[in-house]
Amino acid sequence: MAGPVPVASSLSDIYTVDAIGTQAKRWNNLLARFQTIYGQPAEFVARSPGRVNIIGEHIDYSLYPVLPMAITADSLLAVSTNVASTNTKEGHYKIKIANVQDAKFPAHEFDIPYEAVDIDATVHEWTNYFKSGLRGALELLRKKHGNDFEPKSMQILMDGTVPAGGGLSSSAAFVSSSALAVMVANGEKTVDKTELTELAIVSERAVGVNSGGMDQSASVFSERGSALFVSFTPSLKARPVSFPKTNPELTFLIAQSFVTADKFVTGPVHYNLRVVECSLAAAYLNAVLNPPGTQLPSDASPLSVSLHGFHETYFALQEHSSGATKSKSTESQLEELVALTAEKLDKRDGYTREEIAAVLNISVDELDKKFTSRFPVRAEKFKLRQRALHVFSEALRVLKFMSLLEQQPTNTDDTSEYNAQLGDLLNQTQDSCRDVYECSCKEIDELCSIARKAGSYGSRLTGAGWGGCSVHLVPAGKVKAVREAWEREYYSKLDLSEEQKEAAVVVSKPGSGSAVYLVDDKPGPVVVDDMDRGSEVY
Ligand code: ATP
Ligand code: GLA
Ligand code: MG
Repeated sequence: MAGPVPVASSLSDIYTVDAIGTQAKRWNNLLARFQTIYGQPAEFVARSPGRVNIIGEHIDYSLYPVLPMAITADSLLAVSTNVASTNTKEGHYKIKIANVQDAKFPAHEFDIPYEAVDIDATVHEWTNYFKSGLRGALELLRKKHGNDFEPKSMQILMDGTVPAGGGLSSSAAFVSSSALAVMVANGEKTVDKTELTELAIVSERAVGVNSGGMDQSASVFSERGSALFVSFTPSLKARPVSFPKTNPELTFLIAQSFVTADKFVTGPVHYNLRVVECSLAAAYLNAVLNPPGTQLPSDASPLSVSLHGFHETYFALQEHSSGATKSKSTESQLEELVALTAEKLDKRDGYTREEIAAVLNISVDELDKKFTSRFPVRAEKFKLRQRALHVFSEALRVLKFMSLLEQQPTNTDDTSEYNAQLGDLLNQTQDSCRDVYECSCKEIDELCSIARKAGSYGSRLTGAGWGGCSVHLVPAGKVKAVREAWEREYYSKLDLSEEQKEAAVVVSKPGSGSAVYLVDDKPGPVVVDDMDRGSEVY
């Protein structure tokens, strides 16, 4: 899976057959508008998709593996580097950026100094996401070519179809495609997927929330037809995972709640607070369960201290002191951690800063410096018990889900029982997200219970939660019934535009990850098929 981002020679390298007609129209429109706006053709298009997470929610920033897949909806950046330098400030390069949805995302022009990319993260401005990809890509380019590397000016037109703030990670699609565009614009003939993902993970933290690495990994690494198992330790790795043939056949449905979760605004009490609570739980468990003075390893999680780091340290020390020759399985380690958390973190109403600092043997100021001031959070008490219980039990569910996929169903004539086992794990995730991690909302809970009643095997929120999207594992024969039930019991009660109604529910097929399309090679409309390169117009 590692290796370079593919260069697509036709749209059929990127999209499934059923999507190509619509996509060809969209790409041709993007390229035509580019020509109109900038008076010259685009040189290439950088593309990265959104994602849906199947299982493993809110555990990526604790560095546990997750199982997402890319969707068809994506972010496209058409680019040219042929920018007149006449009115660019001395010592600067120019970025002109426009959006096909120009009413919502107005065009901007920036003169950026060679030294640094300045981002004002206090303002929620769409171009910040491009700048964060630019900043990350520049760091990588300078690592490769030296500190005096001077980036090229670029003019860009963006077209994004991942609903913004809808839980399908439009932000990671945007940041990953931006970083990819900057790399290609600056002459990189090949862009390594792992390097691109790692830089996109770190750079998005400068503008959004302090997220984990699931979204960017799914966006860059995914392969058509497969889900993606992403692990973060000892280093970032992704591998395709296929679903076995089942009877009834399984379909993933994605349903929007139309509750927009504005993570930028709610970060201090929702997403970012969870990140802090998980790292605090790791430090607390380390203090009460490991020998005095044990330091947790500094890792790639947002606060550099994670529950996974605690997990590894705890069992390494246990094995060392008992002289065990054989390690316990990860499943049994996680089961043990669930039990230990329930015993040692027994305060259900949460822990104050003072209580945590006393156990860590540091001052409250030190605690704030290390954990609660890196990005703004607002809380009197931190629910360490609930957060650690969710993370360890969710990590265990991912492993159970993976072992079911690897086992394959025994009775291939009727796999209902097998399907139900997969679905149960998704339902357990939803229960844990709702009751323990507190990241669901009543609308998502409602969509899940309507779907289950109409025949879904498993239904849950996907992505950050607090609104956004839900994902449902539905037998192919029940898709219609589930859709009708949502329409009757949920969507008809909302005031939705035609466009929203159309986008409310999609059948999700695993899509492909990032790609580059070089327009220069193929003047004229985008190529749909290798057989009729350059001649097909939709
Ligand atoms: P989640 O992270 O829950 O999966 P998300 O990534 O869609 O959902 P956010 O992380 O809040 O939501 O990112 C949304 C932001 O990304 C938008 O507010 C906007 O700034 C930017 N963005 C997304 N899509 C576009 C687009 N098509 N054009 C311009 N900016 C976009
Ligand atoms: C958001 C973040 C991801 C992940 C999910 C929850 O989408 O960007 O890194 O933490 O929430 O699983
Ligand atoms: Mg996002």
